[in-house]
Amino acid sequence: MDIATMPRAGFDASWLDRRLQTDRPEYLDRDDVNERVKRQVIWSLDWMGRLLRDHEHLAARALPLVADIDAPRILELGAGHGALSRAVLKLRPTAHVTVSDIDPVSVADIAAGELGRDPRATVRRIDATEIDAADGSYDLALFALSFHHLPPAQAARVLAEGTRVAGTLLICDLYRPSAVVHLVRLASMLPFVLLPFAHDGLISSLRAYSPSAFRALAAHADPAITVEFSRLGRNQIVLARRT
Ligand SMILES: C[S@@+](CC[C@H](N)C(=O)[O-])C[C@H]1O[C@@H](n2cnc3c(N)ncnc32)[C@H](O)[C@@H]1O
Repeated sequence: MDIATMPRAGFDASWLDRRLQTDRPEYLDRDDVNERVKRQVIWSLDWMGRLLRDHEHLAARALPLVADIDAPRILELGAGHGALSRAVLKLRPTAHVTVSDIDPVSVADIAAGELGRDPRATVRRIDATEIDAADGSYDLALFALSFHHLPPAQAARVLAEGTRVAGTLLICDLYRPSAVVHLVRLASMLPFVLLPFAHDGLISSLRAYSPSAFRALAAHADPAITVEFSRLGRNQIVLARRT
C-alpha cells in the first residue's frame, strides 16, 4: 500500500472517516497569506495554551522521560511561539533546549524574546523532516500540534528523523475521534471559520492522524520504531521510540 495515499484515519478507515479529511492547507502552511494572519494564528495558539495551561501540562508529561538525566538535551520541533520550551526550562532548570521551527519568522520572533536571551536555549530553523543533527544528539524530541501539517510521506520522515536524533520523540497532536463524533465537532466549528484560528483549527481536525495511521507511518518510516498512545486532555500523545 502506498503511504502517500493513506487516509488520515489509516488504511482501515471507514467510508465516512475517509471523507472527513482535506488536502486544503492551513493559513500557517501558505506563502500567499498575509504574515499578520499567520502571526495571529501563532499568537492564538500561545494564548489558548496559556489559558488552558497546555504548555505546562505537556512539559510535565514529557520531563519524566528524561528524569534520570542531569542536564537533558531537549529538541523542540515546530515550536511556533516557544511556550513549550519555556515551560520545560521552568520545570527543569538544568535542561538545555533547542527551540526550532521551519518558519523563519517564528524563529526570528522566538530569538527576539526570552528564549533568545537564555543561555540554556538555542534557537534555530530546523525542518523536522530533515533534521540537521547527528544521531543521538538529543535525549528527547518534542513536536506539538504540528504533525498533522505534514502529508503522510513527510510525517513518516518526522518519525524517522525525530527518533534518529533523539531516541524518543514525543508528539502531541489533535485527537481524531470516531467519524460520527468528528462530524459533530466539525459542525460546531463551522460558524467560526472566518476567524483565522478557527479556520486552521477546522482544517487541523480534518488532517489529524488516527492511531492506526500512526502505526502505518511508523512501520513505513522504520520497522524498528514503536509507537505508544495516550491522551492529554483533548489531544493525543504519541511516544515514538527506536527499539
Ligand atoms: C499549529 S503550529 C504549532 C505551534 C506550537 N508547537 C504549538 O503547540 O502551539 C504548527 C507549527 O509547525 C511548523 N511546521 C510545519 N511544518 C514543519 C516542518 N516540516 N518542520 C518544522 N516545523 C514545521 C509551523 O511552522 C508551525 O509553527
